[in-house]
Amino acid sequence: MHVLSPYRPDLATVQEVIQETATIKTLRIVFDDQKKMQSFSFRPGQVGQLSIFGVGESTFVINSPPTRKEYLQFSIMRVGEVTHRLHQLNHGDQVGVRAPLGNGFDHEAMKGKDILFIGGGIGMAPLRTLLLYMLDNRRDYGDIMVIYGARSPRDLCYQYELDEWKAGGVNLVLTVDNEFPGWKERVGFVPTVLSEESPMPHNRVAIVCGPPIMIKFVLFGLKELGFDDEQIVTTLEKRMKCGVGICGRCNIGSKYVCVDGPVFTRAQLNEMVTEL
Ligand SMILES: Cc1cc2nc3c(=O)[nH]c(=O)nc-3n(C[C@H](O)[C@H](O)[C@H](O)COP(=O)(O)OP(=O)(O)OC[C@H]3O[C@@H](n4cnc5c(N)ncnc54)[C@H](O)[C@@H]3O)c2cc1C
Ligand code: FES
Repeated sequence: MHVLSPYRPDLATVQEVIQETATIKTLRIVFDDQKKMQSFSFRPGQVGQLSIFGVGESTFVINSPPTRKEYLQFSIMRVGEVTHRLHQLNHGDQVGVRAPLGNGFDHEAMKGKDILFIGGGIGMAPLRTLLLYMLDNRRDYGDIMVIYGARSPRDLCYQYELDEWKAGGVNLVLTVDNEFPGWKERVGFVPTVLSEESPMPHNRVAIVCGPPIMIKFVLFGLKELGFDDEQIVTTLEKRMKCGVGICGRCNIGSKYVCVDGPVFTRAQLNEMVTEL
């Protein structure tokens, strides 16, 4: 039997490009193979490797939910060569895709619980996938609160759908680092806003993603509010290469972020770090 290499990307075509912020673009893509597009399944939190031929490949979370199958969405912050070239893509351009990779959120275990999303900057991307999945299965989940922070109002992604989140019953708390003319929402860092809001930990899961410094202080804040390590879920951004557990590039202790993660509970992370 002919077995395809796990390094072989599928071809996909860019359907739409959205300029989210000065440095973040969202690509909506479809596989060229329609059968692949129809049968493609994944869990919120799983990632894909996008490749520009002759340039390289990089990891991005699939941030459209599996309940909406017209396209796959990736939001990309421009930081280096691959992301720079991905930002140059337009409608109709081709891109290579290896997906789905990794392990997503355990949304089954979250059924019946209240949910607290805490996101900063581009860290909102993986949370968006799970949030939209939950809005599409609204009765399975309890209260949903989203605390979403960015440097300034111009740095908030997904502004075009924030009303949809609120219409789905999301208690949306937006915050920016400093005062900004015309800004009517909160001002302050995400961990400060978390302690001001003080959501109760009972029957609640907290899902956190953002810059490392935000995660560090949010984890302190959640602990102070009484959240156990099993109630806190985060998604790691450890650099990957093969994405399939072969090259050893992404390990933390005995775990490979590319296959065991990138989603981990805080309790799992504690164990991994003591293994180092
Ligand atoms: C599981 C996972 C999910 C990710 N999801 C997204 C996403 O949804 N959207 C998004 O914009 N980015 C995401 N990233 C980060 C993205 O993969 C990198 O920004 C990208 O590989 C950079 O490639 P480049 O060639 O443009 O830059 P490079 O030239 O490779 O790097 C430019 C700079 O960014 C730093 N950098 C690159 N990759 C990482 C990383 N993983 N962690 C920390 N610093 C890094 C480098 O050290 C360097 O300083 C994710 C990474 C992982 C591992
Ligand atoms: S990226 Fe190769 S083992 Fe994880």
